[in-house]
Amino acid sequence: MVKIGNLELGDYPLLLAPMEDVSDPPFRAVCKQNGADLMYTEFISSEGLIRDAAKSVQKLDIFDYEKPIGIQIFGNEIESMREAAEIVEEAKPDILDINYGCPVNKVACKGAGAGILLDIDKMVSMTAEIVKAVKIPVTVKTRLGWDNDTIRIVEVAERLQDVGIQAISIHARTRKQMYKGEADWSYLNLVKDNPRLHIPVFGNGDIDTPERAAEYKAKYNVDGMMIGRASIGYPWIFNEIKHYLATGEKLAAPTLDERIAVAKKHLDFSVEWKGEKLGILEMRRHYTNYFRGMPNFKQYRTEMVTSDTYDEVCAILDQVAKVYADYEFSV
Ligand SMILES: Cc1cc2nc3c(=O)[nH]c(=O)nc-3n(C[C@H](O)[C@H](O)[C@H](O)COP(=O)(O)O)c2cc1C
Repeated sequence: MVKIGNLELGDYPLLLAPMEDVSDPPFRAVCKQNGADLMYTEFISSEGLIRDAAKSVQKLDIFDYEKPIGIQIFGNEIESMREAAEIVEEAKPDILDINYGCPVNKVACKGAGAGILLDIDKMVSMTAEIVKAVKIPVTVKTRLGWDNDTIRIVEVAERLQDVGIQAISIHARTRKQMYKGEADWSYLNLVKDNPRLHIPVFGNGDIDTPERAAEYKAKYNVDGMMIGRASIGYPWIFNEIKHYLATGEKLAAPTLDERIAVAKKHLDFSVEWKGEKLGILEMRRHYTNYFRGMPNFKQYRTEMVTSDTYDEVCAILDQVAKVYADYEFSV
């Protein structure tokens, strides 16, 4: 049984990765329904939380049915991160997660996110302060290093454990790689081979099919997996992987009716949650995957991603349901 503090997560938990503008409550609702064992919010700016910025504060909203859930924060100032951690704790998540992996310039080049991998002493001090500031378990999400010459992930995991984190998720790329090349999970075996390390280690990067999950589970000795991009528009990935790991058999692909029902639920919640304009806009990145593989779908996809109103998108979904009523998805 994998545990983070007192949270019991099953034998080989599958985690929904934190993803800005993606892993919001509407998306988390459909991932939860489809087997995610632990979910994280989008990252939240510590400075934004302290200033009470509406966008940051809204990201603290979590619901009971989502539990267990972690709220993730990022920042480059130890004091701000400590204060933000206290604000997060008031929202009553199960876990507070620290983002030490974001590679984008506006974050990393200011020393936050993956930027802190260039100053591991500060990373350790910041983590220690945050752990001291809250009672809930603190976890960390990070990358292998800044670049190939600065990979010290074995040492980083051990030092962060020693100041009190209770699990670590590692995206097996460097900051320099951004999202390019293949994630190199062999480093995760090195982290797990450290006899001093006893906290759960979750592997992250490129898990996109049940087959790949099974291959990586066999090859790399991690305690569970975190899944990001493959879940976008395809929340079924969690149950599909679970089933394959348990039986070696693939689940039937979701039917058109299921896809439409889940896309609709996601859309409804998005519009309710963010208002029609933003809700419609942020749903657009999901449609391709919801309907991946359908022949001659381009026209409908284009209409979905250019429609500005809820009624228009619903009308297209209804039309798709009719036109493709007999279509069968292959696995
Ligand atoms: C659109 C997008 C937004 C992301 N936002 C965050 C974030 O807020 N916090 C974070 O720790 N990682 C973030 N990531 C990184 C993912 O959590 C994950 O580490 C990465 O996508 C690799 O996993 P994957 O190959 O399963 O997608 C983001 C990734 C994407 C694609």
